[in-house]
Amino acid sequence: MSETVRTMFADIAPRYDVANTALSLGIHHLWRRTVVRRSQVQVGMRILDCATGTGDLALAFKKAVGKSGHVVGTDFCAEMMETAPEKARKNGMDIRFEVADAMNLPYPDNSFDIASISFGIRNVDVPTQALREMARVVRPGGRVVVLEFGQPQGIVGAFYRFYSNHVIPFVGGILSGNREAYSYLNRTAAQFPSGDNFDAMMHETGAFAGTNYKALTFGIAYVYIGKVL
Ligand SMILES: C[S@@+](CC[C@H](N)C(=O)[O-])C[C@H]1O[C@@H](n2cnc3c(N)ncnc32)[C@H](O)[C@@H]1O
Repeated sequence: MSETVRTMFADIAPRYDVANTALSLGIHHLWRRTVVRRSQVQVGMRILDCATGTGDLALAFKKAVGKSGHVVGTDFCAEMMETAPEKARKNGMDIRFEVADAMNLPYPDNSFDIASISFGIRNVDVPTQALREMARVVRPGGRVVVLEFGQPQGIVGAFYRFYSNHVIPFVGGILSGNREAYSYLNRTAAQFPSGDNFDAMMHETGAFAGTNYKALTFGIAYVYIGKVL
């Protein structure tokens, strides 16, 4: 399973940013800012962004921690991270990018103040294992922060389902040359637990002293925060 996912991301990597911005109408940048704000990040902190892809959330965190802070972006697909170092450099940021599986992180316990993952937790084989790993490398009292799609309800939900079932695979397919990848991303987003259900999954890990979450843009996305035990 994970090798199929890795190969799929390697295939869409070169056009990922263009498709992402077009399909979300740029809103994903606002969501990332909300994630950073809610994480209670402070200047000088150490941040790990898992499944970082092209590094957008890592960059948003680096802006918040400043020069004295440290940000590491990791992904199990090297191709997805190919443009990330250049993006960081262009923004005058020093960020380390390393290949690592979120389910088996190569860092000692308590290495970070915050570990984050955006639009990646639904793609890992065992999400609870990734959450436990992220909590393990964060110091007690630090935060694990997750940004993931939800399933909006009502009129917005009906519009969103049409958009994600038809427009996303079509436009994503044209922009990336891989329609199946965008159907997969959409299918997994529609099926993955959100709101109370994902919050329950975080509790199930036994890794958090407390959790909270907030729906973004009518529940199209959610930000979840876990305070590490
Ligand atoms: C939809 S992309 C999201 C990328 C980026 N975080 C963002 O917000 O745009 C999902 C990413 O998760 C990565 N991924 C999936 N499973 C992973 C795992 N087990 N460990 C590390 N990265 C993983 C993929 O390679 C891909 O880059």
